[in-house]
Amino acid sequence: MDTVMLARSLFGSSMAFHIIFATLGVGLPLMIVIAEILFHVKKDPDYSTMAKRWTRGFAIILGVAIPSGTIVGAMLALLWPGFMEYVGQVIALPFQIEIWAFFLEALFMSIYVYAADRLPPLLRIVSVILVAIGASASAVLITDAHAWMNTPRGFKVVNGEITDVDPWAAVLNPSIWSTGAHVLSSAYMTGAFAVASVAAYKLLKRGRTELEYAYHRKALFVALLIGGVMSVGTAVNGHATAQMLHHYLPEKLAAAEGLFETRAYAPLAIGGSVDGEDRTIRGAIEIPWALSFLATNRFDGVVRGLNDFPKENWPPLYIHTLFNLMVGIGTLLILMSFAPIAYRLLLKRPYPRWTLLALVASGPLSMIGIETGWIFSCTGRQPWTIYHVQRTSDAATRSESLGLLFVLFIGIYLFLLLVTIVIMRYYFKHHPVLPELSSKGGARLE
Ligand code: HEM
Repeated sequence: MDTVMLARSLFGSSMAFHIIFATLGVGLPLMIVIAEILFHVKKDPDYSTMAKRWTRGFAIILGVAIPSGTIVGAMLALLWPGFMEYVGQVIALPFQIEIWAFFLEALFMSIYVYAADRLPPLLRIVSVILVAIGASASAVLITDAHAWMNTPRGFKVVNGEITDVDPWAAVLNPSIWSTGAHVLSSAYMTGAFAVASVAAYKLLKRGRTELEYAYHRKALFVALLIGGVMSVGTAVNGHATAQMLHHYLPEKLAAAEGLFETRAYAPLAIGGSVDGEDRTIRGAIEIPWALSFLATNRFDGVVRGLNDFPKENWPPLYIHTLFNLMVGIGTLLILMSFAPIAYRLLLKRPYPRWTLLALVASGPLSMIGIETGWIFSCTGRQPWTIYHVQRTSDAATRSESLGLLFVLFIGIYLFLLLVTIVIMRYYFKHHPVLPELSSKGGARLE
C-alpha cells in the first residue's frame, strides 16, 4: 500500500470504530427522553426503569466515544496536514461551537445522572432533553465539516493561497441541511433498533417472570415505533440527499447507480456490478424511470452519466454496492418495524419467536447501514478530499511510517470493542432488571 492508501485505511478504520459509539451516543439520549416522557404521562414505573438502564448503557458508550473521538481529531491533524490548512482557515467554526455543545451534554448528563432523584419531574425531563440536544448538536456540527468537504463554500483559492474567507458561508454550505437531517435520523433509528435488539433477545429467553417479559415487551414496542418513524424519515431525507448529489456531485450519483450515458427516464439499478472497462452494469434489476424521479422528482428528468466526466475523476465504482446495501437495509427496517407493530396492535398477541429472532438482527443491521452510508459518502467523493478543490493525494501526510501505526490501531480498536462488550455484559448481568421492577411494587402487566 502507498502512503495515501495507508493514511486512508488508518483514518477510515478509526472513523469506522468511532462512528459506532458516536451514533449510539446520539441515538440513545432520544430513547431516554421518550422513556422519561412516557413515565410522566403514563405513570408506569417501567418507563422510569428503562430510562435509568438505558442511561447506564449510554454512559458506558460515552466512555468510549470520547477517547475514540479524540483519537480521530489527532489523526486528522497527523494524517491530513494539507486538509487541515483549509480547516483552520475556512471551516474551524463548527469545531469551535461543538465544544459548547459537548459542554452542554456533559453538564446536563451529570445533573441527570447524579441528581435525577432529587429533581422535580419537569426539571428531570428538561435536563435529559438538554443532554439529547447537546449530543445531536455535536453530531450536526461535526457533520457540517463533512458536508463542506462535499460542497465547499466560503473561500477562494488564488495562486494557491486561500482568500476571501467567509466562515458562515462555509458553515451554511448547500449540503448541510440534507446531510445533517440524514445523519441525525439515521442515528436516532440506530439507537432505537439497538434497544429493540436487546429487548427482542431478552424476550427470547425462557424461564423469566411475567414482570420481566412485560417490561421487555414495552421496551420493544417503544423501540420499534421510534425506529419505524425514524427509518421512514431516513428514507425521506435520503431522497433529499440523493437530489443534493444530483445537483452538486453528479458523478457520485452516476457511480452509485452505474449510469454511464446521460439520459432522461434513467432507471434505478438494484444489485449487479458496475464494469468501468466496458462502461456497463451487469446483472442488475432495473426499475424504469426511477432514478430520474429520485434525482429530479420527474420521470423525464435528465441524469448525468459517468461518460460526461474524465475517467481519472470517477469515484470507485464499488460504491454502487454500498449504496444498494444502505438503501436495502433502510427499506427492510421500515418493514421490520411496522409489521410487528401492526401484528401486536391488531392481534394483541405476543410476538412470534421467529419475529423476535429477526428483530435481534435489527440493531446490527442498522449499524451496518451507518457504516456503509459513511463509506459510500467518503469513498464516493474520491479522488477529492475537498470536492474539486483538493485531491486526497495533496491532502495526505508524506510520512513513511504508517504501516505499523495501522496494525497497532486495528489491534487497539478490536481490544476496546471487546472490553466494551465485556463491561456491558458484566454490568447488566450483575444488575438484572427484576429487582428494579419488584422494588417499585411491581410493574403493570400489558
Ligand atoms: C432508505 C433510503 C436511503 C437513501 C435514499 C439514502 C441516501 C443517501 C445518500 C444519497 C447518501 C450520500 C450523501 C453524500 O455522499 O453526501 C447517504 C449517506 C449516508 N447514509 Fe443514507 N440513505 C438511505 C438509508 C440510510 C440508512 C438506513 C442509513 C443508516 C441506518 C443511512 C446512513 C447514511 C449515512 C451515515 C451517510 C453518510 C452521511 C452523509 O453523507 O449523509 N442511510 N445516504
